[in-house]
Amino acid sequence: MLDIGTAKVVCLIGQKDPVMGIRMLGCGTACSSGVKAGAVVDLEAAEMGIRKAVEKAERAAGVSVHGVSVNVGLRSLDSRHLRVQTEFASGAIADRDLKRVIGTSLSELSQPDYAILHALPLDWEVDGESGIRDPRGMYGQKLGVDMHFVTAGIGPLRNLAHCIERCHLALRSVTASPYAAAQSVLTEDERDLGVTLIDMGAGLTTVSVFRDNTLIHVDAIGVGGRNVTSDIARGLNTPMEAAERIKLFYGSALHGARDEYEQIPCPPIGAMDELQHAPRARLTTIIRARTEETLELIRDRLADAKLDAYSGRQIVLTGGAAQLSGLREVTELVFNKRVRIGTPHGVFGLTDAMDAPDYAVAAGLLRHAFQQEGEAISGPPDLSGRRYQRSRYQGNALSRSVQWLRENF
Ligand SMILES: Nc1ncnc2c1ncn2[C@@H]1O[C@H](COP(=O)(O)OP(=O)(O)OP(=O)(O)O)[C@@H](O)[C@H]1O
Ligand SMILES: [Mg+2]
Repeated sequence: MLDIGTAKVVCLIGQKDPVMGIRMLGCGTACSSGVKAGAVVDLEAAEMGIRKAVEKAERAAGVSVHGVSVNVGLRSLDSRHLRVQTEFASGAIADRDLKRVIGTSLSELSQPDYAILHALPLDWEVDGESGIRDPRGMYGQKLGVDMHFVTAGIGPLRNLAHCIERCHLALRSVTASPYAAAQSVLTEDERDLGVTLIDMGAGLTTVSVFRDNTLIHVDAIGVGGRNVTSDIARGLNTPMEAAERIKLFYGSALHGARDEYEQIPCPPIGAMDELQHAPRARLTTIIRARTEETLELIRDRLADAKLDAYSGRQIVLTGGAAQLSGLREVTELVFNKRVRIGTPHGVFGLTDAMDAPDYAVAAGLLRHAFQQEGEAISGPPDLSGRRYQRSRYQGNALSRSVQWLRENF
């Protein structure tokens, strides 16, 4: 699988192991360029990064890669909910009836400007009676379902798919980044009781909300660690590379007792060998302002989506930018919830370097590739922009299939 980010590309090669569960065979990372806020903006540069990461992973694993599962971290990630109902001749409800209702929902939702990445049935209803987990075998005349769809803009998805193709790789499946991260860091209890995962990368911050063990919401904003760095560069009048180093060495979102007196070295723009100093308190103020603003934006968007009652008391932070010192405390203040930093688990053979929040998406993709639980469709997304044909979901419905029916009952 591939995690294509704004700052880095990670390729993990894994295998299902009868004893260990999922086992990592090899990992390759490369600096990413040509990707902005998760979207490919320079095909050639992005292709280079992907090729490098894949080659390194292939060498480490001693196998060659033909097909990949890829993350989708795009600003256009969005959640859409739809309730559909169909009538059918009375009798016991069977697989084909479920397929038909899901097919109807897919064709009702599909639009030319976005593609469906995930389709999750949240709740079934038989003759007006809701809260049913598995309606098969029940009797009734009307079958309804509450569907949650995760969608993304079709243009950037086509570029992503094209980029993968240029690397001579087959796109096997896609997973929204915050959904992937959730697969490797969230505990079953968290997913059951309600939890919000926030993945803070370099150019993008994405969010997923779980409740009753199901993904109920995703969101994304085009702000990340790189914005913190550029604020520092502007505020301290220093080049971007120096600002990034300053952030990693001295950066914190919390003021320390000695901040006022401590001076940090910061080279002025255009004269890297000349040293100037700035009070550490100034750095902390810059970082705090940006982090707080980003978190408040996410909090307000979740409130607008009316998720307050469902999103639980727990927040889990992942992504490289989650390693910022003091971020956990500031998130606690902004959301007034419990906050922890999530590192990946559930994949055997991860190295020490990968025991960090910026590998959550990569490890989660690997887990998700082997167990696409609860999903009504699988395989690569339909990027044709055409309406879903209901006939595709009957008979030989298994190209982009109602796989959920096979795996979940
Ligand atoms: N110790 C740290 N303190 C603060 N920020 C950090 C630290 N380590 C990494 N970062 C920041 O994390 C960001 C990189 O995160 P990550 O590797 O998750 O990004 P990405 O997945 O490539 O990007 P995206 O998901 O936005 O497309 C950079 O902006 C970097 O400055
Ligand atoms: Mg990322």
